[in-house]
Amino acid sequence: MMLLQKLCGLVLVSIFAAHECFVSAQISAVGDPGMRRDGLRLAIEAWNQCNEVGEEAPNMGSPRYADCFDLYNSTSPIGLVHKVNESDNKLGISNSTSRGRREPLDVNQYAAWKQIYLGTKCQVQDKPKPWQFWMIMLKSGNMDTLAAICPNNGRKAYPFQSDSIFPCFGKGCMNMPLIYHDYTIVHEDHGTNNLRGSFYGTWDLDIAASVTKELITQNDSSYYEVVWEKEIGKGSWKFHHILKTSSKYPWLMLYLRADATTGFSGGYHYQTRGIMKTIPKSPNFTVKFTLDIKRGGGPGSQFYLMDIGSCWKNNGQPCNGDVTTDVTRYSEMIINPSIDSWCKPTSQQSCPPYHTLPNGTLIHRSDEENFPYEAYHVYCTPGNARHPEEPYNFCDPYSNPQPQEILQILPHPVWGEYGYPTKNGEGWIGDPKTWELDVGKLSQALYFYQDPGTGPADRYWSSIDLGTEIYRSDNQVAEWTVSDFDIIVPNLAARARTKMGTK
Ligand SMILES: *[C@@H]1O[C@H](CO)[C@@H](O)[C@H](O)[C@H]1NC(C)=O
Ligand SMILES: *[C@@H]1O[C@H](CO)[C@@H](O)[C@H](O)[C@H]1NC(C)=O
Ligand SMILES: *[C@@H]1O[C@H](CO)[C@@H](O)[C@H](O)[C@H]1NC(C)=O
Ligand SMILES: *[C@@H]1O[C@H](CO)[C@@H](O)[C@H](O)[C@H]1NC(C)=O
Ligand SMILES: *[C@@H]1O[C@H](CO)[C@@H](O)[C@H](O)[C@H]1NC(C)=O
Ligand SMILES: *[C@@H]1O[C@H](CO)[C@@H](O)[C@H](O)[C@H]1NC(C)=O
Repeated sequence: MMLLQKLCGLVLVSIFAAHECFVSAQISAVGDPGMRRDGLRLAIEAWNQCNEVGEEAPNMGSPRYADCFDLYNSTSPIGLVHKVNESDNKLGISNSTSRGRREPLDVNQYAAWKQIYLGTKCQVQDKPKPWQFWMIMLKSGNMDTLAAICPNNGRKAYPFQSDSIFPCFGKGCMNMPLIYHDYTIVHEDHGTNNLRGSFYGTWDLDIAASVTKELITQNDSSYYEVVWEKEIGKGSWKFHHILKTSSKYPWLMLYLRADATTGFSGGYHYQTRGIMKTIPKSPNFTVKFTLDIKRGGGPGSQFYLMDIGSCWKNNGQPCNGDVTTDVTRYSEMIINPSIDSWCKPTSQQSCPPYHTLPNGTLIHRSDEENFPYEAYHVYCTPGNARHPEEPYNFCDPYSNPQPQEILQILPHPVWGEYGYPTKNGEGWIGDPKTWELDVGKLSQALYFYQDPGTGPADRYWSSIDLGTEIYRSDNQVAEWTVSDFDIIVPNLAARARTKMGTK
């Protein structure tokens, strides 16, 4: 990327080449373009149904950990300098009164504080901004509806008998997972130097003493694992993920996220840290990565080839942390071929009101001849929308600190224009692929609700991730690898320079 900028500087003198440079100047939005940096920056976080902690798991500290290191290769063998030590990683609510803070934080605020603290230890100076880490995210969908822990569309919730929508085995079902950590070390395998580390664990607190990687083969226990590996000086990191559900934890999520380095990232109402030093904006960005799915996670596994998250209000203004008017916006492409379309001519409340063609033509969902129903899994209107078009569907009122809008799409020829899969099974088990998705253009064309008469929101995406949400099915295993992840945005600095040069 540096090379391109320098080239631009040079071609400015030649007027006809300047235009070429103008259109091709692009740059990575992430601190670690293509996952090629040996000195890894990685963190993990765990969320409950409403993206909080609720209660720390025993002896685990707050569920935010990091593995960040630099290499010193002046020595033989090559050494690593870890930035985050065991005592940082173990920090928990019991430490919250130390370090000179006046107000004790609650468990949820402490986790947000710890994420920022780990960020300061991992931070890499860079332009236009410093950045901190890739983020692994764990989430359990269990919800104790009698405990009324999670707000309802951002407002106070009241206890109710679960009508079997939410899994919960009883008191304490919303617990945080046990998180174990093998710090990254150098392995010498057949004359090459490889870096390898992992996070792994379970939500089953009663098996704390016996958590091993072999747990995956045992009956009815939940499990997750992320192993990262890279040959020093060569290629990309490879992130190997495993997620297993159980009857007590049938709804689990595991994602690898690229989040903004400041502000709120999609679905989180605290300041976050991340790896995106530029926040991509529709319609001008692409996302590249290699995905190899080895096991799918069963028929309920909503495997997201691409999940984008943001937040803006129904009047088009950016979110400001007011959970009654902020709206999390999500869109996901689900690539598990066993997930079908709920959006149908007979079920139009599950479709967005319009589909937009690449040339801007709108097709209303009542246009049965032309509307691509099979391209949509489900659409949910924000829970605080004042004038949603009838018929409509609200969903997931408890799973975010604020109301949310969800638009889930499925492989279909209408997405081919954007580099997305066009048919069922593409990119699924046995079909590993390197994707180059025009997420910017697609996300510009998707429908998102705003109140009538309001100006269109700037669609900035502060969280871009992939992984799976195994929805309410026990003893299912998903396994996949991700490498080469990158987000490409226009190089505005190069453009500004070019414009100045041509004046
Ligand atoms: C871990 O890092 C913290 C903060 O930098 C430091 O105060 C502490 O002494 C370190 N602990 C160990 C065991 O090295
Ligand atoms: C955090 O609290 C634990 C348990 O009270 C204690 O063992 C540990 O030393 C504390 N860590 C720091 C950095 O103060
Ligand atoms: C797992 O469950 C099956 C069926 O219930 C049982 O036959 C088997 O012995 C169990 N295996 C273990 C390791 O518990
Ligand atoms: C250490 O190794 C990395 C990766 O191979 C390389 O980019 C860097 O220049 C090396 N640093 C030194 C001081 O040799
Ligand atoms: C973004 O894309 C639009 C439409 O493709 C184009 O007109 C515009 O110049 C682009 N802006 C930047 C900053 O690249
Ligand atoms: C937009 O594209 C559709 C499908 O290709 C076509 O039928 C329609 O005429 C186009 N509309 C315009 C305004 O170009």
